[in-house]
Amino acid sequence: MTIKLTDKVSWIGKIDWALDNFHGEQLSTDNGSSYNAYLIRDGKNIIIDTVYAPFTREFLDNLFSQIKPEEIDIIISLHGEPDHSGALPELIKQCRDAEIYCTANGVKSLQGYYDAGDWKFNIVKSGDSIKLDSQKIEFIEANMLHWPDTMMAYLDGDKVLFSSDVFGQHLAASRLFDNSADKAILDYESMKYYANIISPFAKKVASKIKEIKEIQDKINIICPAHGVIWKEYKDEIIEKYSKWSDKYSENQITIVYDSMYGSTAMMAEAIADGIIDINSDITVKIINSSSTDSSDIVTEIFKSSGVIVGSPTINKGMLNSIAALLEELKGLKFSGKHGAGFGSYGWAPMAHKKINESLEKAGFEIIGKGLKAYWKPDNDELSECKEFGKEFINSIMEQ
Ligand code: FEO
Repeated sequence: MTIKLTDKVSWIGKIDWALDNFHGEQLSTDNGSSYNAYLIRDGKNIIIDTVYAPFTREFLDNLFSQIKPEEIDIIISLHGEPDHSGALPELIKQCRDAEIYCTANGVKSLQGYYDAGDWKFNIVKSGDSIKLDSQKIEFIEANMLHWPDTMMAYLDGDKVLFSSDVFGQHLAASRLFDNSADKAILDYESMKYYANIISPFAKKVASKIKEIKEIQDKINIICPAHGVIWKEYKDEIIEKYSKWSDKYSENQITIVYDSMYGSTAMMAEAIADGIIDINSDITVKIINSSSTDSSDIVTEIFKSSGVIVGSPTINKGMLNSIAALLEELKGLKFSGKHGAGFGSYGWAPMAHKKINESLEKAGFEIIGKGLKAYWKPDNDELSECKEFGKEFINSIMEQ
């Protein structure tokens, strides 16, 4: 499938409707995704990125139904991750004379994945450009957004920003443009993508968004590496990235727990009651971590100003689903959020303390010393849970 975006630019990627996991099994992709690749024909013939390797044949057949291999002058690799470079080895085999434009780190990642000894690399940095017949392509390095090799490209005549993974979403949409997608799903998938993939690099995002804002009125469309192409909502997604990269939170508290026999679940509900008693306007969500997709939990935590995490004590620690979530949060580096731990125990009350330690390491501001309940919480202990919820929300509201 090919979709014309401007007079000179066509989308030549692959929509993957069936994709349900990404980065191995780490990230859920409930709405599929796309691998966006582009063809620019303006004096020179230029390809930007390719597709994931399983779709190589389909990608090449589609491409070469429109242009002969020997007519391709340049291949731009914005980012070497295999979901975008997977078809590159076969493409280069057929386009022997094409030069590959990428960053210095791009050479490293492509050489790391492929037998690229005879590839014609042309290393570019911010400010470098390629002159076409009617316009030029300028390169904008975007180191660590989200890999060291990442860069963007800006086509100045057609006013197209090719943004690599930034502004992406895992979303399959047949007509590609943002206004053809279900907006609620688009909004959710954009945030989920940011929270799970981009958020560790928030400082880099903030400074890159400042740069993009300087040319924002000269951008007509944004072409990310995944999902819809931003046109009607391009200013909105730029503004969202600006907010998301600056200690983002909404009026929400999320309580995430796992439970063996229901005691920690009882505590979670009592804590929620306490929060709502103090602030009935706040959204409180209670999530069982063992039965909820972890990428969706991460998205809910990203939205929250406070996160309360619970597990019963097992073997002086916590249940697996909570341990895995806390390990993930450590890497995601959310900032400006509050946290607290809780959990039931039989003889060694440890989980609530360890949860607090992990949340602190993950950058959360810890409120209190954590809360424990003996075996199955009785009415007094449930009252303590309620009080714990009240103190938690009061501490946040006082700040
Ligand atoms: Fe979509 Fe970082 O590759």
